[in-house]
Amino acid sequence: MNLIFLGAPGAGKGTQAERICKHLGIVSISTGNIIREALRNGTELGKKAKSYMDAGKLVPDEIVIDIIRERLKQDDCKNGFILDGFPRTVPQAEALDKMGVVIDKVIEIYVSDEKIMERMSGRRVCEICGASYHVEFKPPKNGVTCDYDGGKLVRRKDDEPETVKERLRVYHEQTEPLKDYYEKQGKLYIVEGQDKISDTTRYTIEVLES
Ligand code: AP5
Repeated sequence: MNLIFLGAPGAGKGTQAERICKHLGIVSISTGNIIREALRNGTELGKKAKSYMDAGKLVPDEIVIDIIRERLKQDDCKNGFILDGFPRTVPQAEALDKMGVVIDKVIEIYVSDEKIMERMSGRRVCEICGASYHVEFKPPKNGVTCDYDGGKLVRRKDDEPETVKERLRVYHEQTEPLKDYYEKQGKLYIVEGQDKISDTTRYTIEVLES
């Protein structure tokens, strides 16, 4: 199954992608994670993307389209994938269609802006692998360090309240039009993202099995 997870910054796309991938045995592809890894490794891509990301803006379409084109060529995508955070603009969605990629369902995880602002203040990520936690809703097992590699948990630079506001503005302006785009293709499903993490997973599985 090839899926797209849409949703505002912090709606829970990454959290749900991880859970649904385990359930379906498919891979999750997050353009945000790929760019952050490039930043940590100091690559050319990381250097190009840094100023956009830090300011809460979208990285230019041609850069992320190239990332996805290359990533989807890899063997582990053959059994299916979840695109988490791509596409984010109509030109990105059109590019995906032009690549001949068939998408089965597009899931929008809905969370209000007020709730997003609250949530983001509690997010922490592992500085080594980027795994995401929440101080209240998804704490690490030992309460302090990453479950996978013991890495230190830090706040993402773009999770500062002013940057989150800008990311929300950009989301409403540039990404929300995608709902129309996929609605017209008969592929859009909306799931409630404001309940418990496990509830949103259940709603998503119900949609996938419908
Ligand atoms: P990206 O990393 O994709 O950021 P985002 O879309 O803003 O999404 P987030 O990762 O912030 O949130 P999420 O929805 O995955 O939520 P999470 O599961 O972590 O992109 C970052 C930047 O990269 C962009 O701003 C842009 O610059 C660039 N970029 C990336 N893709 C691009 C593209 N295609 N085009 C152009 N630029 C691109 O959950 C958030 C928190 O809430 C966590 O702490 C989690 O534990 C908690 N949580 C989750 N669900 C629940 C729940 N149900 N109840 C309570 N807490 C919950």
